[in-house]
Amino acid sequence: MDKPTDQSRMDKIVSLAKRRGFIFQSSEIYGGLNGFWDYGPLGVALKRNLKDAWWHDMVSGHDELATPAGAPQPYEMAGLDCTIIMHPQVWKCSGHFDLFHDWMIDCRESKKRYRFDHLHGRWASHRGKKLFVVTDQSGDDALPHTVTRALKGFGVRASKVEEIEWLSELESLATAVHAQTVTLADALGPDAGEPGTLTAPREFNLMFETRIGALAGDDDDRAFLRPETAQGIFMNFKNVVDTSRVKVPFGIGQIGKSFRNEITPRNFTFRSREFEQMEIEFFCKPSESADWYRYWRDRRWRWYLSLGLTEGKLQLREHHADELSHYSVGTADIEYAFPFLAPGEFGELEGIAHRGDFDLRSHMEGKLVRQDGQLVVEQGPDGKPRHRGSGKDLSYFDEISRERFVPHVIEPSAGADRAVLAFLCDAYHEDEVPDEDGKPRSRTVLKLHPRLAPLKVAVLPLVKKDGMPEIAIELYRKLKAHMPAYYDEKGSVGRRYARQDEAGTPWCLTIDGRTLTDGTVTLRDRDSLTQDRVAVAEVVDMLRDRLR
Ligand code: GAP
Repeated sequence: MDKPTDQSRMDKIVSLAKRRGFIFQSSEIYGGLNGFWDYGPLGVALKRNLKDAWWHDMVSGHDELATPAGAPQPYEMAGLDCTIIMHPQVWKCSGHFDLFHDWMIDCRESKKRYRFDHLHGRWASHRGKKLFVVTDQSGDDALPHTVTRALKGFGVRASKVEEIEWLSELESLATAVHAQTVTLADALGPDAGEPGTLTAPREFNLMFETRIGALAGDDDDRAFLRPETAQGIFMNFKNVVDTSRVKVPFGIGQIGKSFRNEITPRNFTFRSREFEQMEIEFFCKPSESADWYRYWRDRRWRWYLSLGLTEGKLQLREHHADELSHYSVGTADIEYAFPFLAPGEFGELEGIAHRGDFDLRSHMEGKLVRQDGQLVVEQGPDGKPRHRGSGKDLSYFDEISRERFVPHVIEPSAGADRAVLAFLCDAYHEDEVPDEDGKPRSRTVLKLHPRLAPLKVAVLPLVKKDGMPEIAIELYRKLKAHMPAYYDEKGSVGRRYARQDEAGTPWCLTIDGRTLTDGTVTLRDRDSLTQDRVAVAEVVDMLRDRLR
């Protein structure tokens, strides 16, 4: 039985995201494009603040002279910005060309396509006829959907639903097919009227394909939009070593778009077809890689907490051996309890992978495969490498130990869009505040960390007269030089506070009658709701200090 999700909370978050200009569906006026999302005025600021925080905390603000807590030694960090389209051989040697796929299944009747691992079903019987009723719904929608499907499949009216006998619990279709307890001939597809319309599962490569050049035609022109930013970093490993004088151990960070032709994009921005990643490839000595893996796993975990994600909603999960990507010798996921998931379930925010020397060696020698625990160059039928490497030497010479080795890589790989979604979900609260007459009023508030909040402060003259707007505008202009500030004189002050609460603005400054006499303003705190009097002359420095 599937457990209930917090779907109504998720629906409210999606609705707020649209209503307040955080996230819109791409190409909405044409009906939208599944798996593609645009960030509105507040959303782009939130996402930029998140990426800036990552870049600062991981790359530009990193102190290479100190040993960070938990690190084996000091290390350096550098940045890169690589192209989305790279030489097609990159994806052959990285393994994405052969292995980056999902299994999909089509319905001959409805013409719909599903991810095989997203389908679940259960056996039902009616007057001696048996069907394996399949649903593509998840969470608390799955079970009711199988009931509706069974009514359709057996041709039974809803009032006679009790005539249907359920013979098994909901289970994964893929598992049932592999265990041969179900054949696709017995399966009633999620949108079909008859059983037996689902095709056998087929592999589907997730890379978007494109062609290079005006005369594109033959196979050599085939190129791919990158499905991860990581490979651009491996392409430039030697360039960075040769030009920036970094020494192993060091990391290279990159933020950029990645593209995956997901079969079933879903759950708002969680699974998109175009998204942004924030990735670090950290190069270290093989013998020290286990220590660096632990360091990065713990460092990245602390980063999410430092920006205010609720610890109880986060989970650090080490992958089982059978879950590991083709290159990985160890991976941990940082996961968040998104409201669209059933209680106790978590969705991946970031993976921290120990990639060993897979990538650098593959790009040198040709695509590697694991055989008897060893990485060896994969052979084609002609006995030659299946995918030829660059032949370039990507090893590293350590001048202190006088050793030459291919560095091992630890990769903390985060999704910017998933992180934005997690911070939005975590920040979303409904509570009660006293209105201007002291009566309780319900409010929706985004309790975003001040570093992430799109607007840091709003300046509100209590009334549009008595010189209040003039003082407020002057203060707004002073603030604006240092932080995103907003000026609002429309509507009651209570409504203006409510608008800022929904936008996640941590502070509001109200210019009122007392400002005219003693030069102070009210500083309202979004979360504690305290209202303090602060001198106008001091407020800019005070807020700058708080943001530091
Ligand atoms: N270079 C390793 C790599 O790309 P991944 O686990 O496939 O690993 C890393 O992706 C992160 O990218 C994920 O943890 C997730 O945050 C984000 N991500 C992956 N696929 C995504 C998608 N379809 N939509 C949004 N974010 C995605």
